[in-house]
Amino acid sequence: MKIMSVVGARPQFVKLAPIANVLREVGHEHIIVHTGQHYDPMLSDVFFRDLGIPEPDAHLGVGSGSHGAQTGAMLAQMDQVLQQHEPDCVLVYGDTNSTLAAAVSAVKLHYPVAHLEAGLRSFNRSMPEEHNRVLTDHAADLCLAPTKVAMHHLESEGLAARSELVGDVMTDVLLQVRDSVLSTKAENPLADIDAPLGYYVATIHRAENTDDPERLREIVDALAAADRPVVLLAHPRVRAKAADHGIVLEKGALAVHDPLAYPELIAAVVNSAGVVTDSGGLQKEAFLLRVPCTTVRRETEWVETIELGWNVLANTSAEITKALTRTAPPATDATPYGDGHAAQRAIAAIEALYAKR
Ligand code: UD1
Repeated sequence: MKIMSVVGARPQFVKLAPIANVLREVGHEHIIVHTGQHYDPMLSDVFFRDLGIPEPDAHLGVGSGSHGAQTGAMLAQMDQVLQQHEPDCVLVYGDTNSTLAAAVSAVKLHYPVAHLEAGLRSFNRSMPEEHNRVLTDHAADLCLAPTKVAMHHLESEGLAARSELVGDVMTDVLLQVRDSVLSTKAENPLADIDAPLGYYVATIHRAENTDDPERLREIVDALAAADRPVVLLAHPRVRAKAADHGIVLEKGALAVHDPLAYPELIAAVVNSAGVVTDSGGLQKEAFLLRVPCTTVRRETEWVETIELGWNVLANTSAEITKALTRTAPPATDATPYGDGHAAQRAIAAIEALYAKR
């Protein structure tokens, strides 16, 4: 069987790693297409290197742009890539513009589409990720859900017959990298920070938090007033928006650091006092590492982290301050994100789809 993975942004490279491993073990042909949505080495190349992902077979090099321009540039190039490789199934990941473009182009040319991380919903229709995931789920032939809640959303949208609960592939990779970080006692890149009570790891990159200067200023001020040092692993988007609006990121408790490669990120989080983020992946990674998380949003797709007490939504400055100083959450051995073997189940589901055709 020939499976084509289409990826383009940082979290998709993480999800690709366990899929690429399983496909290699099983012996299926795997074509990797990189759209070029993320192109900075620290957002792209380091993930391929550190997670042992093969070099992409095709690189579309689309770069940044408005949603329409970026998605359209990918669509325009995907036709040729699909016709050149003629895959038996196109696998798309998560909720970025790369996900939507690959799904739409494959559907138009009648290639079967499987969507990994299907069924997540924030119910916030202003988020680009929400448009991307709803449209991709409804275009896909196979929806691979990471959680029971995601399955429930797919069922309630009439997609039950083409959906399967496989677990979360980010758990697969996180557990492996955590074990290797702990066993090799990998160096924590933030070990030099002068923080007797520990430090918080922060990432802020979503459009709703970065693009409005008042909103970004409110978040920066709240983090600068934190009770411990906050290390902001700054995505290029937040740096660019802060510079555009004259917002100083380095102040009070807040220090800026370049984004980290995946094993270094895990070492930094495992040794931290908490995480403050608007990333989806990091909320789960914090939970799986049992580090308290504060999510700077009004809603989350990963509701299990909230229900289990390890994540708190904090949108305003006062809510962020309160959440950072809350008492430690209750211990739990719950596994809402699967057992670390989601990639095997996802490939088995794709094989079953292929066998039916
Ligand atoms: C994208 C995804 C988001 C995901 C995130 C992971 C969409 C709509 N959003 O957001 O769901 O959580 O990736 O990081 O697909 N830039 C660089 N270098 C790069 C890439 C981007 O400097 O390698 C800057 C550019 O100024 C660009 C901006 O970041 O305009 C935004 O990049 P974009 O790809 O549009 O979205 P992300 O914010 O990265």
